[in-house]
Amino acid sequence: MIIQNVTLRNFRNYKYSSIDFYQGMNVITGKNAQGKTNLLESLVYLSLTRSHRILDDKQLIKKGELFSDIKCTFLDGEKSNEIECVIHLKGKTLLVRHQPVKKSSEFVGMLNVVLFSPDDLNIFSDFPKERRKVMDQEISKISNTYLLALSKFQTTLKQRNSLLKQQTVNQLLLDTLDENISKYEFMIIQERKNFIDSIDSYITNIYHRLSDDPVDVHLKYKCCLDSDISYENILLGHRNNRQKDIENHVTSFGIHREDMLFEMNHEPLIQISSQGQKRMTVLSFKMALLNFITKQTHKQPVLLLDDVLSELDYGRQKKLIEMVSKSYQCIITTTEIPEFLKNENMKIFKVADGNIINTTGGNV
Ligand SMILES: Nc1ncnc2c1ncn2[C@@H]1O[C@H](COP(=O)(O)OP(=O)(O)OP(=O)(O)O)[C@@H](O)[C@H]1O
Ligand SMILES: [Mg+2]
Repeated sequence: MIIQNVTLRNFRNYKYSSIDFYQGMNVITGKNAQGKTNLLESLVYLSLTRSHRILDDKQLIKKGELFSDIKCTFLDGEKSNEIECVIHLKGKTLLVRHQPVKKSSEFVGMLNVVLFSPDDLNIFSDFPKERRKVMDQEISKISNTYLLALSKFQTTLKQRNSLLKQQTVNQLLLDTLDENISKYEFMIIQERKNFIDSIDSYITNIYHRLSDDPVDVHLKYKCCLDSDISYENILLGHRNNRQKDIENHVTSFGIHREDMLFEMNHEPLIQISSQGQKRMTVLSFKMALLNFITKQTHKQPVLLLDDVLSELDYGRQKKLIEMVSKSYQCIITTTEIPEFLKNENMKIFKVADGNIINTTGGNV
């Protein structure tokens, strides 16, 4: 996948900007608070139909304006594609090749990007909910079945919880809800397991390619089932917890209680790793994600690196760029361009106060 152009209108601090990207490395430079992350955020928004930074889309509209518009043309294999999102004060309109689409599931994942930013370090300290969000977000980008199963699961969970809050619980209705919810959870668990096993199979190897630290890093699935993954076992899980659920008025068993855990040398990583090791682990996780998406979709996602280089030592910066620059289109933001990057074939852009210009500094 190659992003050819992004046009922003009234997005964050951009009034109007049209940016033509190079198929390889693109470096966005500029002082603090000029619009570097905002540009990456617009691409994340098109990929997920939501921002990675905020929940309220209205904050994306330039102050004093009534709407915001992000348009992107990209190559999907040989095919040129165009997607657009208009954010209004009361919602958003998604367009594919100028035609509005009704469901965001038809839009999510058309443009596939993987972002790595310093905030990703929170993955270790956040609550399980945040790690489930990472799983759900990444799997949804490559699997529509997952996205639909997840949305049906959430609706059914709400119905089940409101039934549990009633004074007399209709057991027949609960039976039906349990059968439905177990069906969706079975699909979700299989996909989560495939995702985590796949990432786990790449992560240690990538870690060792990026650094000479000889630790073993793993990602483990904390599934709600201890036994074999089957529809029957999930249903049994709900049945076994039914009495407790009725007493507490809430669903205690299920995929909404799951987690994924990072381990270092077979111990919980959070307990034993240094700050640098955490940074390398999350970077390896993101690189493994690139492999996973490429394998599943047969298309390379675009890699967005937000202010990441300054956090790594010189050797690791070089290894990271060597690893990704041959295979992926990269958009990198940085306040200072490292010396070694200046020899690469790349396009350099300078951002100042929401204005972007392609400088003559790059080699393309
Ligand atoms: N809705 C908005 N309307 C106008 N300006 C906005 C809006 N939202 C954010 N901004 C402005 O965007 C700027 C921040 O942009 P951004 O986060 O992209 O900075 P950056 O270049 O990545 O900086 P840093 O190097 O510090 O990370 C701030 O000046 C902020 O006030
Ligand atoms: Mg920034």
